[in-house]
Amino acid sequence: MNQLQKIYDNNIAWAEKIKKDKPNFFSDLSKQQSPEYLWIGCSDSRVVAEQLVGLQPGELFVHRNIANVVVPTDLNCLSVIQFAVEVLKVKHIIVCGHYGCGGVKASMQRIEHGLIDNWLCHIKSVHQKNEEELLGIADETERLDRLCELNVIEQVKNICHTTVVQRAWRNNKELTVHGCIYTLETGILKDLDMRFSAMGDMNDIFQLRQPKRDVYKPSLNIMKNNLRDGK
Ligand code: CO
Repeated sequence: MNQLQKIYDNNIAWAEKIKKDKPNFFSDLSKQQSPEYLWIGCSDSRVVAEQLVGLQPGELFVHRNIANVVVPTDLNCLSVIQFAVEVLKVKHIIVCGHYGCGGVKASMQRIEHGLIDNWLCHIKSVHQKNEEELLGIADETERLDRLCELNVIEQVKNICHTTVVQRAWRNNKELTVHGCIYTLETGILKDLDMRFSAMGDMNDIFQLRQPKRDVYKPSLNIMKNNLRDGK
C-alpha cells in the first residue's frame, strides 16, 4: 500500500471541491500566475501562509525557511526575491515570523544542534545586537517572543539591503517590504508597523548608487598599459 495514499486521496478531494465551485479554476490558473505578494515565512507546519491570510492559489508567492531568515548570501532566497520582484512584479514583500518559533528558541541556547547552528548564527547576531533590551526582559517566554519580533525587523532590513530591492526602488518601482508576526495560539497576524518603500528609509551605509559608467576606465587603462609593458 502506498504510504502516501492519504495525501493523494486528500488531493483528489481538494481538486474536486474547487472544480465544483469554479469549473475553470485550474485551467485559468495554469496559464499564468500574478501574485501581488511575496511571503517569506518560517517552515513551521503551523504557520500556513496562504490559509492564514485567506488567499487563493496564485495569489501568494512563497519562500519559507527555518525562522524566516534572509541572508544576503543565500542564493535560494535571493533568487526567489529577484524572480518575485523582477518577473512577477510583486508589490509587497511580507516577512512573517511567529511567536514561540523553535528556530529562534534554539538560537538562544548554548547547546549544539548540529548543522543548523550555522543557520541560527544569524539569529544569534540579532540577539547580540539587541542584548541590552533582551536582558531587561525577565520572563523567558516574553524574551523569546521579543527576539522573534526583532528577528522579523532585522530580516525586513536585510531584504531592503539586497541589490534586487534597491534596483527596483532606484527604477521607481512600487515595492514595499513589511514585517508581521503570527500568534499560534490565536491564529492572529500582528502588523509590526515596519514598512520600507524607498531607498531613503534605510540607513545610509546600505544605500547603493549606480556606479558611473566610466568608473572602471582608469583601472582598465592601467591594466592595458601593464600588458603592453609586459608587467
Ligand atoms: Co518558526
